[in-house]
Amino acid sequence: MAALAFPDPPLTDGVVLLRPWRDDDAAQRYAGFADELCQRFSWSRVEPVTEADVAGAYARDERARLAGESLNLAVADAARPERVWGAASVYDVAAAEQRAAVGYWVAPWARGRGVATRSLRLLAGWAFDVLAVQRLELTCGPDNAASARVAQRCGFVREGVLRSHIPFKGARRDTMIFSLLPGELLLS
Ligand SMILES: CC(C)(COP(=O)(O)OP(=O)(O)OC[C@H]1O[C@@H](n2cnc3c(N)ncnc32)[C@H](O)[C@@H]1OP(=O)(O)O)[C@@H](O)C(=O)NCCC(=O)NCCS
Repeated sequence: MAALAFPDPPLTDGVVLLRPWRDDDAAQRYAGFADELCQRFSWSRVEPVTEADVAGAYARDERARLAGESLNLAVADAARPERVWGAASVYDVAAAEQRAAVGYWVAPWARGRGVATRSLRLLAGWAFDVLAVQRLELTCGPDNAASARVAQRCGFVREGVLRSHIPFKGARRDTMIFSLLPGELLLS
């Protein structure tokens, strides 16, 4: 499969900037993701994330990008691009089927002011325009009200619950699934 190119120019709406991760983001990347909410909803292992896990993500991300499977971007403050607010990714890219999934997390210091919604709008628009997907999927835990609200604000339609969908923290977890089709993205 063809490698996924980083959006060029980087995606921005003037408030958030989606850019490649940099080595010197590692401390913010860890601090943002190690908090209770990200661990509860976005980390499937029982043991908490470590700095070594985050350090290893750089090489894993790059391998997956080159394989055309996923693209993981830092979400930064557009006014101060060195300041990390979170992450946004396109993953499970199935080019032949024109389908992909999107995911995100926002650091505790940047939550509650539209960062996830802005990032998802930018990434979804790019996936339709550049990857030419015909279906974008978004999944989250059934009790993740904030993520469900982000999805709905961007126009994603809730399709239902995938029962016993993934291994999660030593058990199996149901998953709420949403989708967005071309023309459905809500920009306000
Ligand atoms: C989910 C998450 C990304 C939201 O990030 P955010 O930048 O704070 O979200 P936004 O500011 O764009 O908020 C979007 C909407 O969610 C609502 N919201 C936020 N927290 C909420 C909560 N706990 N319960 C219900 N709604 C909530 C906001 O009010 C807003 O809706 P509104 O505009 O109608 O008021 C963030 O809470 C997070 O990182 N959580 C942990 C990781 C995670 O769950 N990632 C997604 C996995 S699928």
